[in-house]
Amino acid sequence: MTDSLKAVYIKTYGCQMNVYDSGRMLDIMRPHGFHHTDDINTADVIILNTCTIREKAAEKVYSELGRILILKNERTKLGKETVIVIAGCVAQAEGKEVIRRAPFVDIVVGPQSYHNLPMLLEQIKRNKSWIVKLDFEENNKFDLLPEELGKGSSISFLSIQEGCDKFCHFCVVPYTRGAEFSRPVSNIYREALIMAKNGVKEIILLGQNVSAYRGLPPDIVEDHDIDHKIHKDLKNQENNTIIISDIQKNHKKNDNFNYWSLSKLIENIANIKEIKRIGYTTSHPIDMLNDINLIFLHCTEKKLMPYLHLPVQSGSNKILKSMNRKHTREEYFQIINLFRKYRPDIALSSDFIVGYPGETDDDFADTIDLVKQIEYSQAFSFKYSARPGTPASEINNQIDEKIKDQRLQILQELLRKQQMIFNLQKIGDEMEVIFEKPGKKNGQVIGKSPYMQSVVCDGSLDIIGEIMNVKIVDAKQNSLFGKII
Ligand code: 5AD
Ligand code: SF4
Repeated sequence: MTDSLKAVYIKTYGCQMNVYDSGRMLDIMRPHGFHHTDDINTADVIILNTCTIREKAAEKVYSELGRILILKNERTKLGKETVIVIAGCVAQAEGKEVIRRAPFVDIVVGPQSYHNLPMLLEQIKRNKSWIVKLDFEENNKFDLLPEELGKGSSISFLSIQEGCDKFCHFCVVPYTRGAEFSRPVSNIYREALIMAKNGVKEIILLGQNVSAYRGLPPDIVEDHDIDHKIHKDLKNQENNTIIISDIQKNHKKNDNFNYWSLSKLIENIANIKEIKRIGYTTSHPIDMLNDINLIFLHCTEKKLMPYLHLPVQSGSNKILKSMNRKHTREEYFQIINLFRKYRPDIALSSDFIVGYPGETDDDFADTIDLVKQIEYSQAFSFKYSARPGTPASEINNQIDEKIKDQRLQILQELLRKQQMIFNLQKIGDEMEVIFEKPGKKNGQVIGKSPYMQSVVCDGSLDIIGEIMNVKIVDAKQNSLFGKII
């Protein structure tokens, strides 16, 4: 590896956690002289940030690696080196197997270890031998908070929680991302402050189960005044890394802290003047009633977006039980009704799996019935795919692919209709839109509504990064059209 090795290309697969992680990898690498490129052909470092949640993920990565090898060989002929990094959940699940099957890969790094990338790249430069780093170092990757966080974005994800202890029988996340872990409040607040300073207006709090957030309170670090403490931390970033690590040690010894819930964290971030909107995703129904204040907050906290992504997966009690979801459809309805009571205009979203082992026509009809009753603003739906090592993959009664296809088509058609209806209902409304990027056509800018919809407006590119009142004049399947007031 030469000293001029600096352009980084990242391909991100899968969920929003991975989108966030890819951004953080770049943030962490930038101070070491690396820059981002969209062109894989000019990249000195190619990172595949991978996902294993559905369908033959590892195979997709290996076939992509086949294409990358050709590129690497061509660059070698020109005297240029290329470092190949496999990051994310496939890295975690496959480990050294990646090097065995693709010996030209240089670094395999898991989701909890990528903050070491600058050091690992340096090691590759010196030793020219592959490295596999898959440690679960809890929140160490969050100790590094580059000053550039969120720069150039009006909307940003902020990871507050990782991992999952729920063990749904179809899901690999508890194995690849590890146990539920919440970042301490002060560490998150500091990241939010940096983002606010860099022009971010909307923060989406991110995690596999943000509803299970239990954050170490800021006052356990000898100081009861959060603002005072945060400012002290900001002045002394390096010391703070030590403080956070100490908190982790205490955390393991002493479980009697008065942990902060998601709603308390939201209330706190809402105090940051520059942050105008706050959202959160993803939640699990079984945690929702433990933090009842979250529901009230949707009524009282203007900055909290009227949007809830609450995956239900299936509308059949039999399938929910077999999935180990630990709640019934009736309990799901109760939770949704409560949110609607306190925030009638709330936009609802969910994830669904069709063709789970043992799903009969009647079970699927229950899912359709649930969707009809709830009326979603948008949703994600997938065919069940057996993930090696998960309990559901060992159930005998697997469903035929053709039946899965048919069910998915029926469900997606209904969800599309509901999304269209939700969008059409917004015509004539006025709402605040945060502008994010240029539109496809000249003279257009694209922003986001409080309900997570894309909003296209005529306007100059200068308004990107601004929040403005918009009157909605038209609606399509995936976006609204508006006039800036
Ligand atoms: N098959 C299909 N969909 C799955 N999901 C998770 N695991 C699987 C699987 N094995 C879906 C769930 C989850 C979303 C992130 O991915 O709907 O909520
Ligand atoms: Fe997977 Fe279930 Fe955890 Fe979600 S709650 S990450 S679906 S195990």
